[in-house]
Amino acid sequence: MILVTGATGNVGRHVLAGLAGHDARGLSRRAGPGLLVGDLRGDLPLDGVDTVFLVWPGPDATGIERAVDRITARVRRVVYLSALAADQGFWGTVEKAVESSGVEWTFLRPGGFATNTLGWAEMIRRDGEVRWPYGAAARSLIHERDIAEVAVRALTTDDLLGRRPELTGPAAVTQAEQVHQIGEAIGRDVRWVELPSGLARRQLLREWGDESFVDGALTYWASLVGQPEPVTGTVEQITGHPARTFREWAGDHADDFRGPSSD
Ligand SMILES: NC(=O)c1ccc[n+]([C@@H]2O[C@H](COP(=O)([O-])OP(=O)(O)OC[C@H]3O[C@@H](n4cnc5c(N)ncnc54)[C@H](OP(=O)(O)O)[C@@H]3O)[C@@H](O)[C@H]2O)c1
Repeated sequence: MILVTGATGNVGRHVLAGLAGHDARGLSRRAGPGLLVGDLRGDLPLDGVDTVFLVWPGPDATGIERAVDRITARVRRVVYLSALAADQGFWGTVEKAVESSGVEWTFLRPGGFATNTLGWAEMIRRDGEVRWPYGAAARSLIHERDIAEVAVRALTTDDLLGRRPELTGPAAVTQAEQVHQIGEAIGRDVRWVELPSGLARRQLLREWGDESFVDGALTYWASLVGQPEPVTGTVEQITGHPARTFREWAGDHADDFRGPSSD
């Protein structure tokens, strides 16, 4: 049996759907149709499980070794949803623990998810605008369905064993253009309002709390002005089709950005 952790999340829900026809179950901390109940920081239902799609919730690394030990003692293969920035965060800790256990592994290393822009949804629904810094920062955000397709390949074939595929969208799109494309998807003119970085810092500190995370994000976005994020062709090499565009993602998520005022 394949156990899909993070099965109620952005990527895991599509992994579970992509495993239709296989013996697969999702994991959640809450009961739901087709889901087993368990907690990566507590008890896990591993009876009969052969392969795990692993999503470590983060950002806290506490409990990684214990969870990975318990999983790898029971299963043959782990496909882990890591990150392009694996060397700078808890993702690297998970990769090391899985690799040293001796099980079969694949570490998927996506860049930023297009779903991160759902953080703008309330502003778009309510005000028809996005107030954010660094509109010229260009990002190669990836559609969660592309990550899930690669994951299904890694779970159900031997093609990606021992590999760390680096996954991005098909092009770098500026944040201001992303907002424009969301507007097109919902049939509404959505404005980009450039926030000076000092004001953005205060806003993000209120929303996100963690000072080093906020400062890290602002420094990173600033670096992407004039130096877009890299694009890899790995999704296409593995799936046989080009990675989905941000425009396509915005179309798939149009309902998330539609509000009463666009009805
Ligand atoms: N966003 C990005 O740009 C980006 C880029 C690279 C990598 N990543 C990584 O991708 C992962 C997130 O993937 P996602 O966006 O698909 O997930 P998500 O939408 O954030 O959902 C989180 C999932 O984790 C589950 N979960 C949370 N705590 C849990 C626990 N203690 N035990 C078991 N399950 C737990 C939740 O399930 P229940 O609530 O149902 O229990 C839910 O299904 C993170 O590791 C993140 O670092 C993100």
